[in-house]
Amino acid sequence: MIDSWDPGQYDRFQGEREQPFFDLLALVRRVPGMRVVDLGCGTGKLTRILHDRLQAGETTGIDRSDRMLAVTRADALPAGLRFRVGTIESFIAQAAEASGPAAVCDLIFSNAALHWVDDHHAFVPRLAAALAPDGQLAFQVPAEHDGLSHVLAEELTTIEPFRSGFGGWHRPQPVLAPEAYARLLYRCGFKDPIVRLIVYPHVLAGRDEVVEWMKGTLLTEYARHLPADLFDRFVQEYGARLVARLDATRPFFFPFKRILCWGQRTG
Ligand SMILES: C[S@@+](CC[C@H](N)C(=O)[O-])C[C@H]1O[C@@H](n2cnc3c(N)ncnc32)[C@H](O)[C@@H]1O
Repeated sequence: MIDSWDPGQYDRFQGEREQPFFDLLALVRRVPGMRVVDLGCGTGKLTRILHDRLQAGETTGIDRSDRMLAVTRADALPAGLRFRVGTIESFIAQAAEASGPAAVCDLIFSNAALHWVDDHHAFVPRLAAALAPDGQLAFQVPAEHDGLSHVLAEELTTIEPFRSGFGGWHRPQPVLAPEAYARLLYRCGFKDPIVRLIVYPHVLAGRDEVVEWMKGTLLTEYARHLPADLFDRFVQEYGARLVARLDATRPFFFPFKRILCWGQRTG
């Protein structure tokens, strides 16, 4: 499978992307020595902070992108922190197969990654099942699927030559409404869930920056499903259409919705 993530492109908006991580971390109850897993950990930079701030016993960062993880491999790791290449789906499948206390986590954490995993109604219960009896689940997902940046990308999958290039593929949209997450968490045994919809107020230099932002995240998924030369044309067409529809005022105000979810199992 193509590894379409580029840490340099992703980190162009590092400051903006980090704030939700810290907001999510603030929801976690700190119990020293926890066994933590960070799903879709990216470059691992924030996983290190997670491990350190929580004084975790062990933290495992998992990401399917070797290129993202290569950033963290360059540095020595503190005790208890490790990374591995793998998918979120396979981690959950392995957790379901394993049994006994060693198989479970005290905290499953995921910042800006679970929206790449399908069917949250089925997936969140599987996350809950991988937790210790009083384990915590904390995740953050973008909720921009109805925004112009996302709608235009999806529209292009229906237009030639991209339609044939994608061969009928459309980007799945698994993100639920905030209240649906609250209900789901409650049903999964998190009796006091916290779910927040936050609009992050990003101020970008200009509207072109929105295209750069999307190249670092959303468009990576389209890149995985198109031949490279056709993907270049896709990005050009996407950029032209998006910029034409955005306000030319500089700086460009870019509100970005995200959903933060936290819960602790009670037995
Ligand atoms: C937007 S980045 C977030 C990275 C990191 N959590 C952070 O906050 O900086 C999303 C990451 O999820 C990873 N990812 C997406 N789908 C995945 C999957 N199914 N399994 C494992 N990693 C996945 C990507 O490779 C990427 O590094």
